[in-house]
Amino acid sequence: MAPLSIYLDHAATTPLRREVLDAMAPALTETFGNPSSVHGAGRAARALIDSARDQLAAVLNARSREVVFTGGGSEADNLALRGVVHRLGRQGGHLIVSSIEHEAVLETARDLGQLGFEVTELPVDAAGRVSPATLQAALRPDTILVSVMLANNEVGTIQPVRELAEVTHSGSRAVFHTDATQALGKIKLDVQELGVDLLTVSAHKIYGPKGVGALFARHGTGLDPIITGGGQERTRRSGTENVPGIVGFGVAAELVEAEREQEMERQSWLSGDLSRRIQSGVPDAIPTGARAGERLANFCTFAFPGVEGELLLLRLDRAGICGSAGSACTSGSLAPSHVLLAMGFSPQLASAHLRLTLGRSTTPRDAERAAELICQEVAALRERAVAV
Ligand SMILES: Cc1ncc(COP(=O)(O)O)c(C=O)c1O
Repeated sequence: MAPLSIYLDHAATTPLRREVLDAMAPALTETFGNPSSVHGAGRAARALIDSARDQLAAVLNARSREVVFTGGGSEADNLALRGVVHRLGRQGGHLIVSSIEHEAVLETARDLGQLGFEVTELPVDAAGRVSPATLQAALRPDTILVSVMLANNEVGTIQPVRELAEVTHSGSRAVFHTDATQALGKIKLDVQELGVDLLTVSAHKIYGPKGVGALFARHGTGLDPIITGGGQERTRRSGTENVPGIVGFGVAAELVEAEREQEMERQSWLSGDLSRRIQSGVPDAIPTGARAGERLANFCTFAFPGVEGELLLLRLDRAGICGSAGSACTSGSLAPSHVLLAMGFSPQLASAHLRLTLGRSTTPRDAERAAELICQEVAALRERAVAV
């Protein structure tokens, strides 16, 4: 990483906020008790968890008892899928997921497929959206779970989750899960309005600590634990709680929600500016995902014909820009993005993808400088390709 880097990879992770660190510090040192202990030190730690649960529940418009803290977004996704399937205790049944899910959902569904469940992977349109009609047609009397993410992590497209949950509930007895890991802090998440049964969130995408997440589980939704043991989290997730992490998550959620509207307006303007600058420097750059207003405001994504995405990232890194090809969790693999392939891009274009995701610290100067360097590096790679 170049010394003066511009960090445009907030969808991968975000820096911990100072206020969050300050809130977490006492939970690491002074309030160190085990929340399951009956003594005062334990009760003090328990009180911190209770208060973080209230904070997150308020942000989601859920009841506190409906929030299950986990070891991150991936674990919450696993709990949603495996927990529902396990509760039903059957050897078979039908699951529906979208074809552009994060691997934490997609690979879990495929694993359940290996165990005897039938899995339908719903197609998406060119913007990466699942249509309610497509879901309706895929529902079957034996469908037990539908999982469609709220906003995609590679292109930022927002799904019509409210309609999809409605179609699911009116056409079947299936449980509806949405992975809202990227959406928290970017769009309003009201579990009552969305009508979902299960919803995943993660702290490190909202300036909170890594390794802590949560699953909203609507009261009455059948869910078995996937981690058994001491029965913490009302038996839904055993293991001594990550008290500092949970405290940090609660504070981060409250802060990000308080500034959401103003910050998204600012980031939307900035990503529009960045996008216009890139398009004027590279006129054949192809914007990916849905149009502005139908995708997360902090996303700016392009496919550059004739450019190898990984090479572009390496050159940008050297020039001081932290970007991504798509999902951080799969980078390192040169396989074209499954999301872009599902959206109808050729394997070549799907490998020529750049995801820039803005955050609280991104300035207009960052957008200007990043666009300049991106246009420069794309041109250099193309010249090199011609020369070879
Ligand atoms: C949509 C989505 N779901 C799940 C995850 C996994 O979350 P975590 O890193 O907390 O396990 C991510 C992280 O990139 C994500 O973007």
